Amino acid sequence: MDTVVLASGRGSNLRAICRAIDDGKCKARIVGVVSDKRSAEALEFAEARGIPTRVLPLKKGDDRDQWNVDLTDHVASLNPELVVLAGFMRILGSPFLKRFPGRIINVHPALLPSFPGHNGPRDALDAGVRVTGCTVHIVDDGVDTGPIIAQAAVPVLPDDTPETLHARIQVQEHRLLPAVISRIAVGEIELNPLKMKAAHTDPSKYLSVPEV
Ligand code: GRF
Repeated sequence: MDTVVLASGRGSNLRAICRAIDDGKCKARIVGVVSDKRSAEALEFAEARGIPTRVLPLKKGDDRDQWNVDLTDHVASLNPELVVLAGFMRILGSPFLKRFPGRIINVHPALLPSFPGHNGPRDALDAGVRVTGCTVHIVDDGVDTGPIIAQAAVPVLPDDTPETLHARIQVQEHRLLPAVISRIAVGEIELNPLKMKAAHTDPSKYLSVPEV
């Protein structure tokens, strides 16, 4: 399954996906990595692996609509069956969402719908929850609001800082995201937003994602 990964940062999720592919546990092929940040470590990793990369920076004062069109056109030129947001810190505009309807997934460091936005681990600590985790969901036009595909729970420990908690969450992200991609690739998860919503009202349809 040809997959494009969008990443702005460290790229540990991209690495986890590639590890699962190398181990034969995920039948995906990364056909491109795109970033809004030239300095993203994800790009360095992708280049070292021979994956085509592209940087589309969005600076203050830039035309956001044009950036969205450029991003959409570039990703479309790679013909992906799936688009994965792995730490992509930009909100995608409607041209992008319309071009890949229901085929964009995101990994978020909290148990949505709790703690959407940029500070999932910090917000969970501030709220005093004892359990948080990560979520893989379909991207819609809200911020971290799309239908949930799978989640993994992580305990919050008494001495946690946002950093230690995030690190513990990432261990789960690195197992959950490749597992979801793998199941999409073999057709075990169908990216139909309506069916995803239905899964929430019918416990027999809850998705359990085995480790890859
Ligand atoms: C992850 O924690 C993900 O949930 C969030 O951004 C972070 C990206 O980490 N959306 P990495 O760049 O994959 O290491």
